[in-house]
Amino acid sequence: MTATLDTATLARLAGEPVDWRFKGLPPAWSGRSPAQICAAAPDLFEAGPLGPVCVLRDEALTHNLATMARWCDRHGVQLAPHGKTHMSPQLAARQLAAGACAVTVATISQARTYRAFGVSALILANELVDVAGLRWLASELNDDPNFDMLCWVDSVRGVGLMTDALSAAGLRRPLDVCVEVGAAGGRTGCRSEADVDAVARAVVGSPHLRLAGVSGYEAALGHDISPAGRVPIRDFLSTMRSAVLRLADVFETDDVVVTAGGSTHFDLVAETLTGWPDGLTVRTVLRSGCYLTHDDGLYQRTSPLAFTPALSVWAQVCSAPEPGLALLTLGRRDVAFDQDLPIPRGFPDSTVTKLNDQHAFLRVGPTARPEIGDWIEFGVSHPCTVFDKWQMIPVLDAGNRVVELVRTFF
Ligand SMILES: Cc1ncc(COP(=O)(O)O)c(C=O)c1O
Repeated sequence: MTATLDTATLARLAGEPVDWRFKGLPPAWSGRSPAQICAAAPDLFEAGPLGPVCVLRDEALTHNLATMARWCDRHGVQLAPHGKTHMSPQLAARQLAAGACAVTVATISQARTYRAFGVSALILANELVDVAGLRWLASELNDDPNFDMLCWVDSVRGVGLMTDALSAAGLRRPLDVCVEVGAAGGRTGCRSEADVDAVARAVVGSPHLRLAGVSGYEAALGHDISPAGRVPIRDFLSTMRSAVLRLADVFETDDVVVTAGGSTHFDLVAETLTGWPDGLTVRTVLRSGCYLTHDDGLYQRTSPLAFTPALSVWAQVCSAPEPGLALLTLGRRDVAFDQDLPIPRGFPDSTVTKLNDQHAFLRVGPTARPEIGDWIEFGVSHPCTVFDKWQMIPVLDAGNRVVELVRTFF
């Protein structure tokens, strides 16, 4: 089942005038709404962006959405894309239109953002022990009978805190939860079978929670896709499978969910967490987020599918003070640097060696001749930490015409 979102709220967003709040955009667009700008389909680079400027490519987004949707269909899995990647209701709308069953979030604030746009189904891929957050969630669930929410739990104490807070908030229908399976050296999640079973029993004993499935995040163990690197990932997913089988008679919903999968190992998730015994119906839900834009670094090295990079940042050479060194108007404020430094496109023998807050140091190779004033396009590594640096991102067609202006909310 696909989730829905409120298109009228999205349309209102497209009517809000743009101005100096949105870095990178051409000053001439000030006072006009995204709807008006996109109706004129201006060429971004002729319109005079104030570099650096982050862009998305429409064709690549469409390709990645269709590729992932086809793959999920073929493998009998559903997709609840991680919305923390972009925090953009407009991009979530594209994902829902391509068949996504829900939007995943990492925090209760992110859940609020997507609920403000009427997203009807959310997975909070995290523990929720915040009393104010639980109070807000209870009122959302009470007010909207069509809102589906799934949270994770990994401790008996957490189950107790949730139960008390939901009870105090007057929750009138149970909140669905998955028991999270973890692994030594990983992140959240129960570390032993005994812990999984004890947490599951505690959920069953709670009047405000319903045991709906089993969850986990295999990439908390790493992104190594070598055969040796995949061994712990397979083991982890097998542990999740065992938990589903062991708890088969304990789940309290007909719709049992098993959810795992970022954008690196989702092929192993489909391999390990489908094909259930007769009589046990399980919905396998992936939560990949970075597949949507893909990248030129981490995910290009590790994705199991041929996605196309859709996200890049353009910057200008502003100085060339020494032979072999160019400085660009691109810094830590503008681009990801947690996985790899940005990758200059069209300059294969040049590399970014360092980023300051507002500068990139480009070590220029022997064949490259970037001149002061030149614009260079940079591919990125790890889309999540690029999106959070941009509040409005133009989506360009193949001719660099602006077809959408995507808002993010971090
Ligand atoms: C719990 C969880 N699920 C899914 C994802 C999505 O993975 P990716 O960013 O590789 O798309 C993440 C990303 O950090 C995550 O933390």
